Amino acid sequence: MCGIIGYLGRKRAKEILLEGLRRLEYRGYDSAGVGTVEGDGSLAVVRCVGPLDALVEKLSGWNLAGTVGIGHTRWATHGAVTEENAHPQLSADGSILLVHNGVVENFASIAIFLAERGYRSRSETDSEVLANLIAYHCAKEPPQQGRFLDGVRRALLHVRGTYGIAVLGKDFPGEMVGARSSSPLVLGVGDREFFLASDVAGFGSRARDAVFLNDGELVHIRENNFSICTLGRELVEAALEAVEWQEALVEKNGYPHFMLKEIFEQPQALENAMRGRFSADGSSAHFGGLRMSPRELRQVDRIVFCACGSARYACLAAEYAIERFARIPVEVEYASEFRYRNAPMDRNTLVIAVSQSGETIDTLSALREAKRKGYRVLAVTNGVGSSIAREADGGIYQHAGPEIGVAGTKSFTTQLCILTMLALYLGRLRDLSFEEGAEIVQALKDLPRLAEETLRLDEAIRALAVHYASCQSMLFLGRQSLFPIALEGALKLKEVSYVHAEGYAAAEMKHGPIALISKDCPAFFLACDGPMLGKIQANVQEVRARGADTVAIACAGTCEGEPFANRVLTIPRSHPAIQPILATIPLQLFAYHMGVFRDCNVDRPRNLAKSVTVE
Ligand code: AGP
Repeated sequence: MCGIIGYLGRKRAKEILLEGLRRLEYRGYDSAGVGTVEGDGSLAVVRCVGPLDALVEKLSGWNLAGTVGIGHTRWATHGAVTEENAHPQLSADGSILLVHNGVVENFASIAIFLAERGYRSRSETDSEVLANLIAYHCAKEPPQQGRFLDGVRRALLHVRGTYGIAVLGKDFPGEMVGARSSSPLVLGVGDREFFLASDVAGFGSRARDAVFLNDGELVHIRENNFSICTLGRELVEAALEAVEWQEALVEKNGYPHFMLKEIFEQPQALENAMRGRFSADGSSAHFGGLRMSPRELRQVDRIVFCACGSARYACLAAEYAIERFARIPVEVEYASEFRYRNAPMDRNTLVIAVSQSGETIDTLSALREAKRKGYRVLAVTNGVGSSIAREADGGIYQHAGPEIGVAGTKSFTTQLCILTMLALYLGRLRDLSFEEGAEIVQALKDLPRLAEETLRLDEAIRALAVHYASCQSMLFLGRQSLFPIALEGALKLKEVSYVHAEGYAAAEMKHGPIALISKDCPAFFLACDGPMLGKIQANVQEVRARGADTVAIACAGTCEGEPFANRVLTIPRSHPAIQPILATIPLQLFAYHMGVFRDCNVDRPRNLAKSVTVE
C-alpha cells in the first residue's frame, strides 16, 4: 500500500525516484507522482493516474534537475483516484511538498482550523491537510536552525492517525524530513546520499546501511548528515543495520511473472526457512529468536494467533498441527477483530502474530493490544526489521526472500512450514514421542524435494486452466488441516483471476453451498492420504452426482484404478504434517494460469496491496 521514496544527494533525483517507485510497485497503487527541489529553489510536482509508465511518459516533458526529491505511489483511501489526489501534495501556500502513507483520522477538524487561516485544500485528501498543517507551523517558527524540523514536529503533535511521511520545503532546499507513526519508514544511508522509503526495496543496494524508524520518531536529513529525534524533541541514537540486498531476488530471471517465479522458488525458500533449525537428535526443531525458555513454553496453556488473509489461513492449518502434536488449545483470530473484541484470555496465553510483510496494520495493532494487556507476543514474519518483528517479544523469521507478487505464494508455504516446526518443537517439549518427532523431522527434510516434484504438475495444471478459463465460480473443499488450504486455494483464485471462489470444509458443503453445485461450478477437492480420505471421496461423489465437474488433488498411490473425480492431480505421497504445504502448490499454479488466460495482471491484481497499512 502507498510507496514512499525520497532522495537527497548529488545525483539527479528524478531517475532515482522513478527507479525507487518501480521497486515499490509491488505494494499496490493507483496513481503516482514525484516532486523535486529545483536549482532556483522552486518545488516541481508531476503526478498522474495509472501505471508508472504513464508517469514516466509525462515526466519526459519535464526537465527536472533537482538532486533532492520525493516520490509516491498512492493506493486511494481519502478521495477518488485522480491526479489532484495523487502525491506529492503541495501546501496551499506552495511552501511544503509532502508524500504520505497512512490516514489522518482528524483531518476534517484540522482542515476547518486551517481554512480559517487561509490554507484551503484543493484535493479531497487527508494528506493535503497534513501538508497545509506543516506549512502553517513552519511559517510560525522563528527563523532559526532546525526550523523545518520543528515545524513538522509541531504539526505532527496535532495529528491523530497513522503516517509515514517524507517532506520537502521551499525555504529549506538542502533538507528533507521524514516521520512515522504506525506506517513504515526506513532511512537508507549511502555514500554522501540518503534515501527515505516505505521499505528497503525502495533503495535496495544503493544504500549501505538502513535505519528503521520507530513510531513517534522524525529523521532530519541534510546534505552531509542526518539526525533522529522524537516528537518530544529528544535525540535518538540511530541503529544502523547493514543492507543485505540481492538485486537478483527482485528480478524475474526469465520467468514471465514474479508470481510464477516465486511459486517455483518454493523448494529453495522452504530449505532456507528450515536451515539450521533442527535439533541435533533429529527429533525436534529449535529457533534462535523466541526469547522464551523451554520452561516458559511448557507453561503456555493456550495459543491465540492473530493474522489476516493468507497468513490467517496458515494459522488455521497450524491449529491442527499444534493441537495434535503439543495438545495446546489454539484459537485463530482475525487480527482486525481481535483488536477490538476484548476477548478474555488466561495469563498463560501466548499470542502469535503472523504476517509476511510484518507491516499489516491490523496485525500490528492486535500485537500492540495483546502487549498492552500484558501477554507475551511472538511474531512469525518474512519482513526483516519490520514493525511486527521489532515490536514482538520474540519471533521467527521465514527467510523466504523478497516476494514481489502481490498474491502470497512462497510466503504462505514458508509460514506453514515454520508453524509446523513450531508445533513439533512445542510437542517435543511436552508429550510427543521421539519416534513421532523424528518422523516429522524427516518429512520436513524431504519437503523441498517433494515440492520440486509437485511443481512438475505445472503443464497439466496449465491444461486444466485452459479447460476452466471461462468459469465464473468455483468451490474448494478440504477437511481437517487441508480445509485451510481450500480457503487459500479459493483466495488465490479470486485474487489473481477475479473468478468467484469459495473455500469450505468439505462436509459443511451439505449445509448450504451444495445449492451452488451445477455443471457451471466445478469443485476442487483436497483428497490427500489419511484417515479422512474415504470421507472426502464420498463428498466428491455427492458433488459429481449433482452434475458438477470435480478435480481432486490426491497423493500418489491412493487413487489407483477408476479415478474417483473427473480429473485427478497427483502429488507425492507424504507425511500428513507436510501435506498442506504440498497441496497448496497445485492450487497456486492453477490460480496463476487462470489469471494469465483471463488476461489479468497476476503480479499486481486490481485493488490489492502487498502490505495493507491502513485499517
Ligand atoms: C495474500 O495473497 C493476500 N494478498 C493477503 O490476504 C495477505 O495475506 C494479507 O493481507 C496479510 O498480509 P501479511 O501477511 O503481510 O500480514
